Amino acid sequence: MCGIVGYVGSKNAQDFLISGLKRLEYRGYDSAGIVTLAEDGTATLLRAKGKISNLEEKLAKNKRNDKIGIGHTRWATHGEPSEKNAHPHQAGEIYLVHNGIIENYKELKQQLKEHEFKSETDSEVLAALINSFYKDGKHPLINAVVQALKLAKGTYGIAVVSKLSPDEIVVARSGSPLVIGVGHGETMIASDASALLGHTKQAIYLNDGEVAMIKKDSVEIKTLNAEPVSAKVEEIETNLSAIQKGGYDHFLLKEIMEQPESLNETLRGRVNTEDGTVRLGGPGLTENQLRQIKHLIIVGCGTAYHAGLLASYYIEKITPEITIEPVIASEYRYRQSYIPEDSVALIVSQSGETADTLACLREIKKQGVTTIGIVNAIGSTIAREVDGGTYVHVGPEISVASTKAFTSQVIAMVMFGMTIAQAKGVRTSVLRPYVDEIAKLPEVIRETLESVHEKVKDVAGKYASYEHGIYLGRDTAYPTAMEGALKLKEISYVDANAYAFGELKHGPLALIDDRFFEFALLPKGELYDKAISNVQEVLARGGHVIAVTNEKKFDLPVDDVINLTAESEIFAPILMNLVSQLFAYYMTVAKGYDVDQPRNLAKSVTVE
Ligand code: AGP
Repeated sequence: MCGIVGYVGSKNAQDFLISGLKRLEYRGYDSAGIVTLAEDGTATLLRAKGKISNLEEKLAKNKRNDKIGIGHTRWATHGEPSEKNAHPHQAGEIYLVHNGIIENYKELKQQLKEHEFKSETDSEVLAALINSFYKDGKHPLINAVVQALKLAKGTYGIAVVSKLSPDEIVVARSGSPLVIGVGHGETMIASDASALLGHTKQAIYLNDGEVAMIKKDSVEIKTLNAEPVSAKVEEIETNLSAIQKGGYDHFLLKEIMEQPESLNETLRGRVNTEDGTVRLGGPGLTENQLRQIKHLIIVGCGTAYHAGLLASYYIEKITPEITIEPVIASEYRYRQSYIPEDSVALIVSQSGETADTLACLREIKKQGVTTIGIVNAIGSTIAREVDGGTYVHVGPEISVASTKAFTSQVIAMVMFGMTIAQAKGVRTSVLRPYVDEIAKLPEVIRETLESVHEKVKDVAGKYASYEHGIYLGRDTAYPTAMEGALKLKEISYVDANAYAFGELKHGPLALIDDRFFEFALLPKGELYDKAISNVQEVLARGGHVIAVTNEKKFDLPVDDVINLTAESEIFAPILMNLVSQLFAYYMTVAKGYDVDQPRNLAKSVTVE
């Protein structure tokens, strides 16, 4: 997702903008730019393709002590990554940065003949449209912005400055987050609160349909219909150390290794090992409402979808008389699915900003279905639009590849399923094993990470030359295999795909040759022997198998075995996923690719 920063105050704006953009780098981008204004309105516009370091080279020759400016990291949607397509875009006396997509930009462009377009972007069209109302200062900047936004269709988070009023920034949002940081004699803006950390803990989260004029000591918010909005200042919950690498080479390894702590935060105050129950306050459902639930839809994209699929296997094991429908948001939002009475929808999203998931949420709400968020980012759009929710509290997840959020999303959804089971009268003796295993899972994760780390690093190095991988599992190990394949493909660019073991003979078995390795998840249990038979089918065809198992008697002649010694009868797949995460990490390091910012991807996909 693109990143936006802005500053107006008494400090050096260029310094704030560059450091703010660096905080947002993890979201993925392909070009960056800033513009600052001197008191006399002289503008210094700097843009560069590629990394922010390229922008800094330009900055070194154009240092200014300006006190106001805006900046942007761009993840290309319309127009290839280039300097001319980078933001900020200029139209007359104004400059604009934009997150989102203006869907009717072509029609609008037809009406803006007097503007000489220099880029292929929809964002420059929005800048020209605003300027067509601004008329070089004949009208207040905020009024020109409002009039233009009323004509624009699509999503936006924007910041606009003018050389004619170099003491104010106008911001607006619809579908793309913007947060205003309130300081002492300075005001900041960002598309993600992490850019504000170290400068202020006071934040105002702009809502869809709101526009604000900010100055160094004032924030004035109103709706597009000019109704005043009272600014609600909230405390930013994250601290600076949470968004730094803490001695690790990459955020991804830090976030893999901190899963004992992050899961502890998810469980805090929610698990009662005394009476063998769990309690979630956030969903806000009464015992009776929980008892009534007959159908559960679980909505997500990518890893969030895999978390929902894995959780669905667990929930159906413990919650009677309930049907569960895990769905991919980008598909479900366009289907004509019948939603039965007594349904509840779980909306799963780490960032709380994923466009397809948000669109699904809005569609489902229109049908009067209760929506419960399973979200990490506090104050995010999805978190604010669901009817209730459970924050997973894993702290900022910086690396594009999601790891700690997945583990906590699964457990949070299992706990939600347990609250339904409790309300439906499922006996404590049935739920007690889940409560006990969940309570000890953070420590079991710690033991697992310690016990497998070096082995996984060695094995990953052995397979670094492979370009194809097959992940395999049955039952709860199958969604886990899907998640493992995604992890590997999204950061090491290896063509990795997951199949249910039982599906091998229906096609994928034809793939087995020296181009592929097979990553087999083999938890003990009633389906273990069946999975072993499948592994033997693969070996009989010359497969290169990496077995991940907690079965101490495992003795097949595979290429490599990664034994799980720490025990979790129920959540062995969660522990196996730690192996997949580390395997993907070390394969990527061995290949020399960018672990935290893989090509073509963004941390939060706020475009459809
Ligand atoms: C996971 O590693 C990917 N980064 C991606 O699939 C991600 O899970 C997906 O975009 C959903 O993001 P969200 O949880 O923030 O909604």
